[in-house]
Amino acid sequence: MKIVVIGGTGLIGSRLVLKLKAQGHEVVAASPNTGVNTITGEGLAAALKGASVAVDVSNAPSWEDAAVMSFFETSTRNQLAAETAAGVKHHVALSVVGTDRLLSSGYFRAKMTQENLIKGSSIPYSIVHATQFFEFVKGIADFSTDGNKVRLPSALIQPMAADDVAGELARVATAAPINGTIEIGGPEKFRLGELVRQALAAWKDPREVVADPHAGYYGIQVDERSLVPREGAQLGKTRFAEWLAQSAQQAASAQPHSVAAATGGGKK
Ligand SMILES: NC(=O)c1ccc[n+]([C@@H]2O[C@H](COP(=O)([O-])OP(=O)(O)OC[C@H]3O[C@@H](n4cnc5c(N)ncnc54)[C@H](OP(=O)(O)O)[C@@H]3O)[C@@H](O)[C@H]2O)c1
Repeated sequence: MKIVVIGGTGLIGSRLVLKLKAQGHEVVAASPNTGVNTITGEGLAAALKGASVAVDVSNAPSWEDAAVMSFFETSTRNQLAAETAAGVKHHVALSVVGTDRLLSSGYFRAKMTQENLIKGSSIPYSIVHATQFFEFVKGIADFSTDGNKVRLPSALIQPMAADDVAGELARVATAAPINGTIEIGGPEKFRLGELVRQALAAWKDPREVVADPHAGYYGIQVDERSLVPREGAQLGKTRFAEWLAQSAQQAASAQPHSVAAATGGGKK
């Protein structure tokens, strides 16, 4: 089967491309770095020619409200039009658990727009809602840092390894479209502060985590269960402590900016 992975050079995309290739599929990693741009349309029709499935794991370069909305709206419209023309039979997209509960954020309004465009198109689809990736924990800490303190609310979070996200996407992409949304998450729940405290200790990062009920998650007010999946979600196997031990080891041998490199950069 020919499968096009839009955003195939990213954190999730690069892992997904490897997994699908290992299963024997013909896989195209489509992104600006490989000459495919879903905003300008460059290379899109050629990449999709003969494809049965397209998986969208791209992300916006800017998360500013207007920019991120413009990215997901334009990119999704262009993908769906090009996929219709190419006769693609299954569109798979990665979104975030709780998107519909987090609409005070411009990022999640943009993800909701992406999802609604997919639901309104004639292409059979599967939307995968994942919880936050382990690789994103440094980004959460950095966003909430104030001097030497990291201020976080006590909401629950059930993060998962990027590798487990990619594994589940590979399964969904090679199965029949569900024309609906499934949720995936990690094997354990944490309090946000406890999760970040564990990570900073493993990375020997001196910042102190402070519980602050008024602090947001990425600037958004969240309640106890805003970020966690519902009962029955598919759960990844990798435990945070396992991943953390590995990332701390990689950080110790990498130079410089070692933690950022080992944890996926923490851009967000
Ligand atoms: N962060 C989380 O914890 C989390 C949780 C659940 C779901 N998600 C979702 O997971 C998805 C993937 O996230 P990620 O962290 O893997 O992303 P990422 O590492 O930032 O990768 C983004 C990818 O998008 C590509 N891209 C950017 N602009 C493009 C364009 N105009 N045309 C085509 N491709 C373009 C990039 O290509 P280049 O390399 O060529 O620039 C790159 O391959 C996102 O949609 C996000 O909403 C994230």
